[in-house]
Amino acid sequence: MKIYDVGLLAGDGIGPEVTWEARLAANTAAERFGFVINWVKFPYGAEYYLKHGVGLPASAFGEMADCRAMLLGAIGDPRVPPGPLEQEILLALRFHFDQYVNLRPTRSYPGVPLPVAIPSAEAIDVVVVRENTEDLYMGLGGRRASSEKTSFSARRGLYTLAGTLELAMTPERESAFSFGFMSAAGVERIARYAFRLARERGEKHVWSVSKANAVPHLYGFWDDVVSRVARAEFPEMELRRVNVDAACYQLARRPWGWGVLLCPNLFGDIVSDLLAGLSGGLGLAAAGNIGDGLSMFEPVHGSAPDIAGSGRANPLAAILSAAMMLRHLGEENAAGAIESAVQDYLARGGPGLPLELGGDATTHEVGSKIAAAIHHHGNEK
Ligand code: NAD
Ligand code: IPM
Ligand code: MN
Repeated sequence: MKIYDVGLLAGDGIGPEVTWEARLAANTAAERFGFVINWVKFPYGAEYYLKHGVGLPASAFGEMADCRAMLLGAIGDPRVPPGPLEQEILLALRFHFDQYVNLRPTRSYPGVPLPVAIPSAEAIDVVVVRENTEDLYMGLGGRRASSEKTSFSARRGLYTLAGTLELAMTPERESAFSFGFMSAAGVERIARYAFRLARERGEKHVWSVSKANAVPHLYGFWDDVVSRVARAEFPEMELRRVNVDAACYQLARRPWGWGVLLCPNLFGDIVSDLLAGLSGGLGLAAAGNIGDGLSMFEPVHGSAPDIAGSGRANPLAAILSAAMMLRHLGEENAAGAIESAVQDYLARGGPGLPLELGGDATTHEVGSKIAAAIHHHGNEK
């Protein structure tokens, strides 16, 4: 019997609620397809931070490195100001394990009400391929009250960046700054991933989302490197460039017919929540942080403190993230069984839908329905 050690970082807010249901779905699929998941629990999140003053102990990376994959709920808590928890846990893990792809598929489901009417022959089927290590997420910046020097360092899989910045401001005013950074190697690898994915999906084009008109240093560079990769390595594919503001506008009016959206880190973050809204809800939006080493799967949504503990959280995003994880582990049948169970459940529509989608079903009721459907998967055929 195959046994997979999978790290489970339930995290904060609705994280533990939705990962509980994701674990149930994954375990049910594992049983059905003859393998075992050995969940290795990690206690990190707001409680740990408030008690120990750090997001992760130094030993965490080594412990996680022994896992075949990770499933994460969400990180973030109103008791901690925005930033340290997310940076020291979520972003630290993405960077440490060089999970350079943030893969965020969005689709519409028959049975799920959408905010924008879609012609009956069309469906939403977009994949955001978000660069996950660079851009404004480098963490390089500071608040300044005088023109003192600021030193930085950032470690990534591809390089270490260190240095000092000295800015004179006249007159000296209270101020803050943050700078974005991109490497050609960083842009090349994510562009390649996007083109290969589009090709696998049988598509002839990739959209590259940018903003070179306002921020030419960073996003002009992005455009140049992406087109270089496209021309040299994917001559049969079309590169379509779109500014992020226009992309949001067009997506909101016409969310079908897109395909792969290749995005720098920050735009990918924003566009994926927009797509989640357009497809019915954040509670459906699954994601994977993928690299050449340990990959980590997690819903697009956060810890949703406004609904934590109320049973209102839709666990399907976490459940579908667990399916992505099983596919990544090579358990295609188990992943497919979870996805079919979700699709069949949503297709029934009506009052049985999750509360988020206008139905009556609480977090655990949704999870139980999906587990039951996975359990019976294939029996009816
Ligand atoms: P959020 O995604 O947590 O919530 C946005 C809105 O969507 C809220 O109204 C919430 O109730 C709703 N929502 C989210 N997930 C839902 C679900 N599964 N079912 C039903 N409704 C759902 O974003 P936010 O409010 O900006 O952030 C809250 C905290 O989460 C912050 O600390 C933030 O930093 C953190 N965050 C973490 C992650 C992550 O761990 N990957 C992602 C985003 C935000
Ligand atoms: C996400 C989140 C994170 C991000 C935050 C919590 C740092 O919004 O995973 O989408 O911006 O990447
Ligand atoms: Mn986000």
